[in-house]
Amino acid sequence: MKAIGIPADAAGHGADALVDLELATPSADSRDLLVRIEAVSVNPIDIKMRSARPHADGQPRILGWDAAGTVVAKGPRATLFAPGDRVFYAGSITRPGCNAELHLVDERLAGAMPASIGFADAAALPVASLAGWEALFERMHISAAGNDAGKTLLVIGAAGGVGSMAIQLAKVIGQLRVIATASRPESQAWCGELGADIVVDHRGDLFAQLAANGTRAVDFILCLSDTDRYFPVMSKLIKPHGHICALVESRSPLPMNELRGKSASFSWEGMFTRSLHATADMIEQHRILNRVASRIDAGQVRSTVKHCFKGFNANNLRRAHALVEAGNAIGKVVVTG
Ligand SMILES: NC(=O)c1ccc[n+]([C@@H]2O[C@H](COP(=O)([O-])OP(=O)(O)OC[C@H]3O[C@@H](n4cnc5c(N)ncnc54)[C@H](OP(=O)(O)O)[C@@H]3O)[C@@H](O)[C@H]2O)c1
Repeated sequence: MKAIGIPADAAGHGADALVDLELATPSADSRDLLVRIEAVSVNPIDIKMRSARPHADGQPRILGWDAAGTVVAKGPRATLFAPGDRVFYAGSITRPGCNAELHLVDERLAGAMPASIGFADAAALPVASLAGWEALFERMHISAAGNDAGKTLLVIGAAGGVGSMAIQLAKVIGQLRVIATASRPESQAWCGELGADIVVDHRGDLFAQLAANGTRAVDFILCLSDTDRYFPVMSKLIKPHGHICALVESRSPLPMNELRGKSASFSWEGMFTRSLHATADMIEQHRILNRVASRIDAGQVRSTVKHCFKGFNANNLRRAHALVEAGNAIGKVVVTG
């Protein structure tokens, strides 16, 4: 089968290390699905994994953890899907990624693709939806039944892949008031289009901008950018008993005592935790993706593709990596077959 990856003997780890490869076709065992990949999207995790030290196993590294495609075969213990079904998923970073013609994924990590959209739009959804959903409704315990309606969520770095889904999930499902941060006219306009009630600039003084909008403190904060940099202002802005959730690893220990007086909580969200540790509730990712799919089909939530490269080859994947690596992507970057 065709794949795009980094050969074991690649000289560097820039985007130009990605090359077209021919690999053996894998076969489905246990609860795995063998999926014909129709579209993938690129995430910051691809850049981190591409830049990581190569394995010593002599095998090429295949990246890609956002996929949409069609099931062509299944392992003997797989029961959730059948050949011909269209699926979308993030998968697991412990296994080869989806930048390949055919790909194996545990069925408990896959959702049934929304019926109303195509593969490109579907490939943009899994990582961002899973990270957004888990952060809002699991880590911060925001009610998915509307019991927190009217409370305020601040999303820092809201115009990117995860933020674009988090704004929508918080509005549609959480019924929250959403304050988004974005620094450029086009990223600010995008957050507004997705439903943010107020957009402020993270390059300016957040505390002053929120105060100018009549907000001195917020119930929830989702931090999708530099956790160390934003921790002091988040500590200042969070309400007593509020909850902060961060997705980006800190470079140094965080001063947690700053939250103590307010009895505020802090959580990490890692959307690969379930697959990494094969947690007993790993099938929740199947359920979350199905719930997101039903919201897409109901027209309440939309996919957030901003760039789509047509043609599944190393050249297009390198272009997609370059856009994400620049650090100022709006919505999602997709490559289709
Ligand atoms: N833990 C997890 O499970 C998980 C899952 C997915 C992603 N992540 C991580 O979460 C982060 C966001 O992911 P993503 O896919 O949304 O990334 P992305 O699409 O690359 O995010 C791009 C956005 O970041 C904003 N940004 C750039 N510099 C910023 C700054 N200094 N402060 C605030 N915002 C800034 C930009 O907004 P402006 O252009 O308006 O400045 C841009 O719209 C990444 O670090 C990623 O690795 C973690």
